[in-house]
Amino acid sequence: MNSLFTVIIYLLLNVVNSSITTTYYKRLIDRRIREAMTYKLPKNNEQFRKGIESNDIQNYGEYDFVIVGAGSAGSVLATRLSEIANFNTLLLEAGDEEDDFNQIPAMMIYNQLSRKNWGYYSTPQKYSCLGMNNQQCVVPRGKLVGGSSSINSMMYIRGSCKDYDKWSDLGNHGWSCDDVFPYFKKSENSQIHGDNGYHGIGGFWNVEYSLPPSDLLENIIAANLGINQSIIDYNGINPFGSNQLQFSIKHGKRQSLAKAFLENARARSNLKLVTNVLVTKAIIGPQSNVTRGVEFVTQNTKFRVLAKKEVIVSAGAINTPQILMLSGIGPKKHLEEMGIPVIADLPVGKNLIEHPFLPLVLHTNYTIQDTTMEKKIDLYLRGLGPLTRPAGMIGVALINTRNGVEEVPTIEILFGEPNPDLSVFAKMFNLKETTAAFLTEIIHPKSDITISLLLLNPKSRGRVFLKSNSPTDFPNIDLNMLSKREDANSLIEAMGYVSKIVQTDGFKKINATLLDIKMCNNVNDIKRKLECLIRQMTTTCYHPCGTTAMGPDRTKFVVDDKLKVHGIRNLRVVDASIFPLPVSGHINAATVMVAEKAADVIKKMYEK
Ligand SMILES: Cc1cc2nc3c(=O)[nH]c(=O)nc-3n(C[C@H](O)[C@H](O)[C@H](O)COP(=O)(O)OP(=O)(O)OC[C@H]3O[C@@H](n4cnc5c(N)ncnc54)[C@H](O)[C@@H]3O)c2cc1C
Ligand SMILES: *[C@@H]1O[C@H](CO)[C@@H](O)[C@H](O)[C@H]1NC(C)=O
Ligand SMILES: *[C@@H]1O[C@H](CO)[C@@H](O)[C@H](O)[C@H]1NC(C)=O
Ligand SMILES: *[C@@H]1O[C@H](CO)[C@@H](O)[C@H](O)[C@H]1NC(C)=O
Ligand SMILES: *[C@@H]1O[C@H](CO)[C@@H](O)[C@H](O)[C@H]1NC(C)=O
Repeated sequence: MNSLFTVIIYLLLNVVNSSITTTYYKRLIDRRIREAMTYKLPKNNEQFRKGIESNDIQNYGEYDFVIVGAGSAGSVLATRLSEIANFNTLLLEAGDEEDDFNQIPAMMIYNQLSRKNWGYYSTPQKYSCLGMNNQQCVVPRGKLVGGSSSINSMMYIRGSCKDYDKWSDLGNHGWSCDDVFPYFKKSENSQIHGDNGYHGIGGFWNVEYSLPPSDLLENIIAANLGINQSIIDYNGINPFGSNQLQFSIKHGKRQSLAKAFLENARARSNLKLVTNVLVTKAIIGPQSNVTRGVEFVTQNTKFRVLAKKEVIVSAGAINTPQILMLSGIGPKKHLEEMGIPVIADLPVGKNLIEHPFLPLVLHTNYTIQDTTMEKKIDLYLRGLGPLTRPAGMIGVALINTRNGVEEVPTIEILFGEPNPDLSVFAKMFNLKETTAAFLTEIIHPKSDITISLLLLNPKSRGRVFLKSNSPTDFPNIDLNMLSKREDANSLIEAMGYVSKIVQTDGFKKINATLLDIKMCNNVNDIKRKLECLIRQMTTTCYHPCGTTAMGPDRTKFVVDDKLKVHGIRNLRVVDASIFPLPVSGHINAATVMVAEKAADVIKKMYEK
């Protein structure tokens, strides 16, 4: 009698408890979506102005290592360095902590319209982004613990083996495919049953599929077979082929590098993480080129902290070059124009690499099975369902357009399911109002699917440079995508695959047709019309890298193959800025590889 009563109470409590949780998530999602739609991105680092302008500077003590930025690379590096008990590390992060909302993969786009994004735009562009307000593309960057890995799309695509051989061919010793491959495996905990020997099991970073698969997956696989793609583990033996997407999620939740790595290390007494502080410069000299520490600010106060061994800048491909230039390391002429005393003349900020990204929409007669948000949340809490799919992404094709001439894929196609909330996309991409209004009118949110093209090995390069010598100002970001004609031509070629896909059995079954966005209609020549469309709608794939590139020649590169800044002692860069050349995939896994490798280099150097 008594025990039956206990069981009933227990069951009741469980039901109540789970409905409280569902209600909590429902309210959280509603509120955050509402806030995102009216959120205004900041124009500068106003939040830190008082601290920046303070004349008083306080001492923050001394650590072995000071790491700037707790993003993908910073989280991994700090975790690995703190494995050595007598290394004492300070990790400085400008943003705040992660929360329950940014854990939900399907909600990823809303984070870009929130305080979790630095809020950058490109400078007005000439060759791409022409369909955006003021010809400016958005350049979202994570401003929170976990960095961009806490707001990204979680697609796990390592790039090709040959990409890294090309890095090595530039004279970077230790960066060939064979050298870096073990580091990809080291961090990974793969759940996808991929090619034997190619994946890590038991690493900190989980990789899995979103389950159960979307019912569109079948059509997507059939379509890829229809264009002669093989269905493969694209993080395995063969880099060319298609399949459903591998995601860095765990039991359906985001696996930022903070969750995967830093969470294991935060309690260690030899690692200190400080959030909500802006690092404004590295302190170098004055007599020799030795890095002594960094200056950082809170809202109102300025601090100086010293590094006994090294300062390691992991602030990402936009902020890392900004910090170096503010410290006097950069192109001499530019620094002089900005009134910054030059410590080292290096090509900082040049070689900005970005993957051009062209989102397209197909009308279909498929209809997405829509359920209530409550049902989706209940599934999510069990690690399942549509909320576990980042922005509705399902499948990918990595295509070798040159039929074996190129050793790496040149084009990537991403397939996504219908996304009922279109208005947010227009805002997210900074689309011109006329285009946004037109799209809202003709798109069928429950049946139109997305197909996006990426150019994996672009030849065009952009540049990050300073607006002024004040850390209050955001840096200028000139993406300069498609400035090289061959990049535009490659995208025109990629459009050809879209017409082929539409004609496959897989896509005929859902009666797919490419949406005519009624742009460039005054252009008669079909090729010119495609080019016009491409230049209007191409935006970034959120993969900036290369701005402090690695290589031996200091007139062309900023760091050496140990990632140390040329000519400066005790200063290293460890993040996506060091990529000398593009990666034929998405770049988070490669960034983590860089941090894993750097951790070993540093440990070897200082461990006794
Ligand atoms: C919207 C979006 C979607 C993406 N999708 C994918 C994807 O699906 N797959 C993939 O592989 N890659 C994706 N990426 C790219 C990938 O996430 C990034 O390339 C990667 O996270 C970069 O790592 P990082 O360590 O170089 O920089 P970040 O992770 O950006 O870390 C830099 C950190 O430094 C902090 N910081 C910067 N300046 C300062 C300062 N002055 N003081 C203190 N702290 C500072 C930042 O706040 C941040 O936390 C995406 C990126 C975005 C933005
Ligand atoms: C696929 O390969 C077959 C056989 O080689 C060929 O006939 C067909 O045209 C190819 N299809 C596409 C879309 O390239
Ligand atoms: C297929 O799409 C075309 C163009 O959108 C439309 O006219 C036609 O009615 C559709 N057919 C079916 C069977 O849905
Ligand atoms: C969608 O269109 C295709 C091709 O026209 C047709 O065979 C199929 O029956 C249609 N499906 C639905 C659900 O209307
Ligand atoms: C600092 O490094 C730069 C670049 O390598 C060099 O030109 C300069 O002489 C160095 N300055 C000192 C004081 O060592």
